[in-house]
Amino acid sequence: MAIELNELIELLNKDLGLEYTAIVQYVQHSGVLTGAEYGDITKEIKIHTTEELQHALVLTEQIDYLGGFPTAVMPPAATSKDNREMLQQDLTGEEDAISRYKQRIVQAEELMELALAQKLREILSVEQEHAMDLRNALGK
Ligand SMILES: [Fe+2]
Ligand SMILES: [Fe+2]
Repeated sequence: MAIELNELIELLNKDLGLEYTAIVQYVQHSGVLTGAEYGDITKEIKIHTTEELQHALVLTEQIDYLGGFPTAVMPPAATSKDNREMLQQDLTGEEDAISRYKQRIVQAEELMELALAQKLREILSVEQEHAMDLRNALGK
């Protein structure tokens, strides 16, 4: 079934809200993660924070371009006091983002929104790097 532009805008707004969630979750986790063995991943997730902000800015611009109204609403972030659990929460978020952006690229191409599809591919490749960083830190 073919997707319509207003459905794509709605889905992009969900993606945008989840980028806000990722920013907040990484900022909060960077402050809670403790222990020398988590020093490297703490530095990495601080970098992830700024990359998620870039994704949010790209999505906002694209939603506006398509005639939508960018959301200011975000689903709650996942928290924990346990290092591994926090990293697992972050990995779950990244895996969800990867699966959403893969679908979104196909949907954007279906609507011939090819510049959007290209921006989404760039975001997807960064999310894959994020997932890899987290998997390495978790020893997976
Ligand atoms: Fe992102
Ligand atoms: Fe990410």
